[in-house]
Amino acid sequence: MKIILETQRLTLREFTEDDVDNLFELNSDPEVMRYLGKPVPREKLRDEVIPFHLAVYQRLDRLGTWAAQDRATGEFLGWFHFRPGLDADLTNIDLGYRLRRSEWNKGYATEGSRALIAMGFTDLGVERVFAHTLTVNTGSRRVMEKCGLTLVRTTAPYEGPEVIEGAEHGEVEYALTKPEWAARAVGDDSN
Ligand SMILES: CC(C)(COP(=O)(O)OP(=O)(O)OC[C@H]1O[C@@H](n2cnc3c(N)ncnc32)[C@H](O)[C@@H]1OP(=O)(O)O)[C@@H](O)C(=O)NCCC(=O)NCCS
Repeated sequence: MKIILETQRLTLREFTEDDVDNLFELNSDPEVMRYLGKPVPREKLRDEVIPFHLAVYQRLDRLGTWAAQDRATGEFLGWFHFRPGLDADLTNIDLGYRLRRSEWNKGYATEGSRALIAMGFTDLGVERVFAHTLTVNTGSRRVMEKCGLTLVRTTAPYEGPEVIEGAEHGEVEYALTKPEWAARAVGDDSN
């Protein structure tokens, strides 16, 4: 199990095959999935999702999806992703997060995201970080803002088969460029 980075309270590490139950339990909470749609079946987590993450570790340096655990206790808290988007551009990176409900509003998503962003801009050649969420997902948008990302656009409403609360209000994209991040870092310790 390889550690990707550590913050004051979090360890971000590679997933392993043994994380199936952690992921399944995380996704079993309807509040966690409120803006995300139906949870993935356990078999799909085991046979597709985790193998996909493991394969990315072989291909890319510290760009992927990481399990987050309590640095002091080792308890599984959720995950972060920091990975290329659909265009596979390694300089334009998609940030995302999902944490157990019991751990919300302790600043963990902000803490992990800021550390990933700093790693990307300083070590990995990243030029831009972006994130998407449903327009109505206020908590997720707040994390983006606290990490210095700003609103880029609102996209059309989701029109797929699943019923997701608030999907009719569309999605937002937020982004932060390396120069913006560097400018924020001057005289501001929040990065
Ligand atoms: C989104 C999520 C990762 C945030 O994690 P977190 O560790 O609680 O985030 P933080 O504690 O760093 O920051 C949350 C901020 O949002 C605010 N917030 C949370 N819920 C809110 C709500 N419903 N309305 C307004 N603000 C809200 C908090 O007050 C806090 O801001 P503050 O520090 O200014 O008070 C977590 O809620 C989660 O896992 N949600 C389910 C999965 C999900 O929606 N992921 C994002 C999909 S794109």
